[in-house]
Amino acid sequence: MLTGRNILLGISGGIAAYKTPQLVRLLKKSGADVQVLATTSALKFVSELSLATVSNRPVLTGIFTADTEGEYTRHISLGEWADAFVIAPATANTLARLATGLCDDMLSLCFLTLRPDKPVLIAPAMDGHMYNSLSVQRNLSTLAEEGCRILEPESGSLASGQCGLGRMPEPETIFEALAGMLATPEKSALNGKTVVVTAGPTREKIDGVRFLSNYSSGKMGFAIAADAARRGAVVRLVTGPVNLPTPPGVERIDVESAEQMLAAARPLFDDCDLFIGAAAVADYRPEASVEGKIKKKDAEMEIRLVRNPDILAEFATNRKPGQLAVGFALETAGGIDYARKKLTDKQLDLIAFNIYNGHTSGFEVDTNVLTLLGRDGSVTELPLLSKEKAAAKLLDAVETILPR
Ligand SMILES: Cc1cc2nc3c(=O)[nH]c(=O)nc-3n(C[C@H](O)[C@H](O)[C@H](O)COP(=O)(O)O)c2cc1C
Repeated sequence: MLTGRNILLGISGGIAAYKTPQLVRLLKKSGADVQVLATTSALKFVSELSLATVSNRPVLTGIFTADTEGEYTRHISLGEWADAFVIAPATANTLARLATGLCDDMLSLCFLTLRPDKPVLIAPAMDGHMYNSLSVQRNLSTLAEEGCRILEPESGSLASGQCGLGRMPEPETIFEALAGMLATPEKSALNGKTVVVTAGPTREKIDGVRFLSNYSSGKMGFAIAADAARRGAVVRLVTGPVNLPTPPGVERIDVESAEQMLAAARPLFDDCDLFIGAAAVADYRPEASVEGKIKKKDAEMEIRLVRNPDILAEFATNRKPGQLAVGFALETAGGIDYARKKLTDKQLDLIAFNIYNGHTSGFEVDTNVLTLLGRDGSVTELPLLSKEKAAAKLLDAVETILPR
């Protein structure tokens, strides 16, 4: 099931660490390559020799020790190498360190170097009172908001002799949760479908050196394009000016203005199964743009603006049966009614109401808060998520309405 997948397994110092050689065995048996990152405390509960033997790799603990085999930037290469990061058991101490960004051992350092689109699975295990403490719950919320999946501990007899919540799920359960997160694209309804995504801002020329635009970074649209490609879709990304690398497997077309974006997207309409308008297309453009630079004068200046084409509406109203149209509505506050109206007026299948709060959600930042509104009246409120995780949630919703 996990053939060719590279897994980082972080083990911290809880009693449940004694179960981790079994988890390594399950991962290896399914074809994964496993690199164990154990804290110093973890190695008091489980033998380094056992873990190194079953993983067939040296166990990495410290960052300045000889176990990095002379590769002094091993933490960075491991962050790139890994397809997923599992932390099991995750102690209260390790959760606190990960939630605050401390990185003074291999486990915590690799947690920060892991590529942001890679799944992270955390299995906290501890005494029930510890687990229910405000600080542990706060740290778990922080990690969940960053996009980590938290595997709830189970109830049962604990090492303390008490009975209650806090037991690490069995290695088989952890393995299955991870396998689900790494499910292959063949299982995705998007596999083999053609998806057109627009992203980024547009620039509307005033003169040879000035333009009207907005703060869109393109991160949300690029995250959607990347995730759709990972799910096996043929992805065409039409983007305004952004400073982002092209996601693997994505065909990219760069444009500047709304009119250019429409001209680039229109030929792709016929051939696509799904159109996702994530670009922040400027609604207006200067009626006339001037060659060269407009000179400063003492008098006030007026620029007359005219409406730009509505790319998403053009797709939605002219589409063929079976083609899906998905849009975004970015609003500062109270805009959910506007998003609902946009969904109906433009006859979309799904709209992501995107709250702009200026710091954690909306333009430029790496996180977003979306509410997904379906044509069928469904409403799915997502928490604050990384844009990668928000993109995955959006595509999960799309998959449920995509004709097979
Ligand atoms: C016998 C024993 C069992 C422990 N079990 C747990 C546990 O299950 N979960 C936990 O969060 N901490 C547990 N601790 C406390 C951690 O080992 C301690 O907080 C340590 O600093 C964790 O370090 P680490 O997070 O770097 O691995 C236990 C400590 C002892 C002495």
